[in-house]
Amino acid sequence: MAEATAEQLAATTINDDGIVPKAEFSDRVPINSIISRADGGSGLAGKKARVGGWVKTGRKADKDAFAFLELNDGSCPGNLQVIVEAGLVAGELSQVVPTGTCVVLDGELKLPPEGAKQKVELRAEKVVHVGPVDPAKYPLPKMRLTLEFLRDFVHLRSRTNTISAVARIRNALAYATHTFFNKHGFLYVHTPIITTSDCEGAGEMFQVTTLLSEAERLEKELIHNPPPTEAEVEAARVVVKEKGEIVSQLKSAKASKKEIGAAVDELKKSKDTLSKLEERSKLKPGIPKKDDGNVDYAKDFFARQAFLTVSGQLQVESYACALSSVYTFGPTFRAENSHTSRHLAEFWMVEPELAFAELKDDMNCAEAYVKFLCQWLLDNCLEDMKFMADKFDKGCIDRLKMVASTPFVRVSYTEAVEILEEAVKNGKKFDNEVKWGIDLASEHERYLTEVKFQKPVIVYNYPKDIKAFYMRLNDDSKTVAAMDVLVPKVGELIGGSQREERYDVIVQRIKEMGLPLEPYEWYLDLRRYGTVKHSGFGLGFERMILFATGLENIRDVIPFPRYPGRADL
Ligand code: 4AD
Ligand code: MG
Repeated sequence: MAEATAEQLAATTINDDGIVPKAEFSDRVPINSIISRADGGSGLAGKKARVGGWVKTGRKADKDAFAFLELNDGSCPGNLQVIVEAGLVAGELSQVVPTGTCVVLDGELKLPPEGAKQKVELRAEKVVHVGPVDPAKYPLPKMRLTLEFLRDFVHLRSRTNTISAVARIRNALAYATHTFFNKHGFLYVHTPIITTSDCEGAGEMFQVTTLLSEAERLEKELIHNPPPTEAEVEAARVVVKEKGEIVSQLKSAKASKKEIGAAVDELKKSKDTLSKLEERSKLKPGIPKKDDGNVDYAKDFFARQAFLTVSGQLQVESYACALSSVYTFGPTFRAENSHTSRHLAEFWMVEPELAFAELKDDMNCAEAYVKFLCQWLLDNCLEDMKFMADKFDKGCIDRLKMVASTPFVRVSYTEAVEILEEAVKNGKKFDNEVKWGIDLASEHERYLTEVKFQKPVIVYNYPKDIKAFYMRLNDDSKTVAAMDVLVPKVGELIGGSQREERYDVIVQRIKEMGLPLEPYEWYLDLRRYGTVKHSGFGLGFERMILFATGLENIRDVIPFPRYPGRADL
């Protein structure tokens, strides 16, 4: 988190031996424990400190007698100003000024001259380490670089102000997530990443297989070392036959044990050779196929078809139906060919699941959780939020305050469609047609939350035909107990539902949707044995970060974005 922790503050104020204490597990004082203090660090003037970081800006001054460095170590958005005299640097002073250079310095904290922006600065007394940078080659020079440009340098972009602020905000939201659920008695469950069931039934899964690499390996091997011909196999069979006959002859001639033993060994060897040849003669290049021409997944790594999960929901339900309140938080994968600023092929989802809870409880939980996240950022990440407000989205802090304090609007899908139809009647133009039964498009969602209500909106009771098989069928038999939380800037942030707990109904729904029953048999067991009313939802973690930071593109809020055509590192 950007602000110094209470312990760091205590340590930097109580200890009075004239040295600012280092971080517990590294050899320097974190910069936030100096400049993020309430007094901006001025109370530490006169104390010695070792600091380390990467130079944001460096310039030589006073005819190259010394250099001013703006040093950042990622512990907070701010930089510590450092003054280094030429005599302290082993080589040229110009070695330490290029943007991106790493330096570790011992020095004394001093009050800057009257009128300076910073409250404290460090006058270096010793240069402990320099990790130099050749400015002619460093890909991230000191200039305003676009976020799009930075996507080509995902391994270095964490050194920029924006991406490091996003990293701290992301970390804060993850910590807040665990805090919220822990506080409310939820158990954190690790659901599998490799799965054999399609949660959303939408067929957007990445397949996990070793068949392709195996086929490639075999193809190369067979070129190098071709399989035996039928004649070679036949010759080996003849040898086995001959060796067998020798054994029988020796036995009928009552030969010595030793002689028979030796002949039996020979026979065994020839049988071994034959079976190896027979095995190899069956090897065929390409993917293994069954007689019906389909791929033989029995030969695959898991002896069946497997995928990367699109959601941990189904598995986490099995824990909810035993431990009551649980959640999972992990990466999920979708092979949808979306090139939008709201979709990733790999994204993180927070998925709580509650037993003994219906749709209303689910909505209450979602609302409380989103409010908690917003308040958490206001309380713990304000410096970074101010940076985002300053550089990207003036309204982002007010938006957090609004969401943290305003009750979410709740409208049924049917009401939502009526509102949209009314808007169309009054001249609003949408690219997608509005009528009952459509899946709301992003433009519709954003109209509801940004224009009509100007606050978060929960839309519930969607038509069953546009939602997943596991959602509970309502009494009207036309809608399901689904809910989506829509927020300004992003549209859909959360998707959730009450789950269908009635065995007969869910079997019917799986069949209706044309899905096979077999992969869901274990899931049906949760309804066969001790079924219970239960509900849950999934929050798209990157969508939450987009919402909080006001950034425009989801590729900039995950450290290593994956999307069609791109998976760097
Ligand atoms: O609405 P979705 O598909 O719901 C589920 O997966 C449920 N199984 C969750 C549950 O009930 N446990 O996805 C949930 C959220 C969406 O609201 C959206 O915020 C995010 O995940 N999301 C994506 N985020 C980034 N890139 C994508 N391709 C996303 N697809 C969904
Ligand atoms: Mg959804």
